[in-house]
Amino acid sequence: MCGIIGILGNTPAVPRMMEALKRLEYRGYDSAGVATVEDGTLGRRRAPGKLANLEATLKADPLGGMAGIGHTRWATHGSPTEANAHPHMTGRVAIVHNGIIENFRPLKDELLKAGVTFEGETDTEVVARLLTRYLDEGLAPRDAFHKTLSRLEGAFALCVLIAGEDDLMFGAREGSPLVVGLGDGENYLGSDAMALAGLSSKLIYLEEGDWAELSRESVQVYDAAGAPVKRPVTLSQVAATMVDKGNYRHFMQKEIFEQPTVVAQTLGRYLDPNSGTVTLPDMPFDLAGVNKVTLVACGTSYYAALVARYWIEKIARVPVEVDIASEFRYRAPVYQKDGLAIFISQSGETADTLAALRHAKAAGQHIAVLVNVMGSTMAREADVALPIYAGPEVGVASTKAFTCQLAVLAAFAIKLGAAHGLVDAAQEAAYIAELEQTPKLMAQVLHADGKMADIARQIAPARDILFVGRGIQFPIAMEGALKLKEISYIHAEGYAAGELKHGPIALIDETVPVIGLAPNDGLIDKTMSNLQEIMARGGRVVLISDNAEDEEGLLDRFPMPSAGELVAPILYAIPVQLLAYYTAVEKGTDVDQPRNLAKSVTVE
Ligand code: M6R
Repeated sequence: MCGIIGILGNTPAVPRMMEALKRLEYRGYDSAGVATVEDGTLGRRRAPGKLANLEATLKADPLGGMAGIGHTRWATHGSPTEANAHPHMTGRVAIVHNGIIENFRPLKDELLKAGVTFEGETDTEVVARLLTRYLDEGLAPRDAFHKTLSRLEGAFALCVLIAGEDDLMFGAREGSPLVVGLGDGENYLGSDAMALAGLSSKLIYLEEGDWAELSRESVQVYDAAGAPVKRPVTLSQVAATMVDKGNYRHFMQKEIFEQPTVVAQTLGRYLDPNSGTVTLPDMPFDLAGVNKVTLVACGTSYYAALVARYWIEKIARVPVEVDIASEFRYRAPVYQKDGLAIFISQSGETADTLAALRHAKAAGQHIAVLVNVMGSTMAREADVALPIYAGPEVGVASTKAFTCQLAVLAAFAIKLGAAHGLVDAAQEAAYIAELEQTPKLMAQVLHADGKMADIARQIAPARDILFVGRGIQFPIAMEGALKLKEISYIHAEGYAAGELKHGPIALIDETVPVIGLAPNDGLIDKTMSNLQEIMARGGRVVLISDNAEDEEGLLDRFPMPSAGELVAPILYAIPVQLLAYYTAVEKGTDVDQPRNLAKSVTVE
């Protein structure tokens, strides 16, 4: 969602901030702006829409200064207009803000009564006016900022410049991440490590309630009470080159094609083919005692959880419950003593998933997370974090994070099975040998991408598309539908193939293509019967399968290599990703930043 950059530097801030804002585009945004302080005077430029609009504004009306703050805004309250774009300014302060100030109405009423005037309706302006008031009352900047923070309720990250202070910047974190970057005679603030890639690799992740005072030569972090605190400096794993499309046309395409490499890396961290064992990070609880697993996530991560349910129940015979994070807290979930709740989140910041995590933690569950960002809030609040090692994922449509999540979940299911005495050494080694085939088979699937480009051309004119699969392919069907609707804007749904005849088959005619996922497993005959039912009603079926038999009447087929049940869902994720990608390209949509979507969804 919204992105923040703050630079206290020694060269003009605007070009560097624009680079950082480009790196933050992946989060999704609909307006952007920058402010600087130069010779004590604040200046600001903002524009609705893409960064190109802000660039044009800056070209027409340049902004100097070596200290600046910048923002990409994903509208929550208020439309994406220039007036609502950040930074918000008074004569004395400029502020960028991620998140929501929940008590902004009473604060605004208080300020209005005191004679303060407002330009707009946003909660951010209230923060700017409140800080200005405290400065006007004669408080020193540090005290004024701390007093302002003490009045705010909600989830927010803030970055602030003050007029007359060319060597001062404040940042604060409460519920929304903020990172300090340490430089050589320069210091920075960013909403994530990606914002700071290329500026600094030495990062301080602010903790909940922390705020920071930066000059070019120093950084002091304070806790919510205002006491100076020391937070660890971590080395960023995100290099500026990782945030580069290379020779690919889109980040999503690059990330799809990276999958054999990153999945191999992930498997390499969790599997030891020599000893034939799975290694997980140290668990601060006994896996053998885990009698129930609750999996909670959103979107694509939720579909990874649904796949994991099949594996965990089959391999470890432990009951599994799977929930969409935004619903989890609202149905009074029944926890069991010694239950393990696993939260799956690429970003580690998704607000719904984080809220669900806190709910389960308060109920005394063991908490594990699968995240791609180890400095994320979820990683820090969990009892144990299982990194997925996918590397930065920039495309809003999640691809490599999904297959890396599956790789880790497969390893986890095996380990849980071993801990419960249901997977002996020979079986564990056999599972590992099966999983070790994954990268090679993924590369084989990717090699046929031209075929999927052909299929995409055939289905691109459709208004509605169904994806069907049975068993462990049912979640992949839903994932395929989500990918397609996200980036091509074609309405798509994923169904259990056997469920179609209970209603959705009424939709079938020659205008609704159906994508059938049918690996040659124990369910193929049933899946093929369901596909026949569709074709008998004039439906046009694209078959994705390793079944070599020639089916009559298909619209097309995409051949797959054969694989076992641990590898098949990982493999079948690729053709549905490719189909979504090539269909979006065919339709000319914005593949990496689809409309209305944000990469990291930090509001509930
Ligand atoms: O960062 P998370 O894994 O928690 O994100 C969850 C969803 O927002 C995310 O998977 C979303 O559905 C993607 N855009 C799917 O491509």
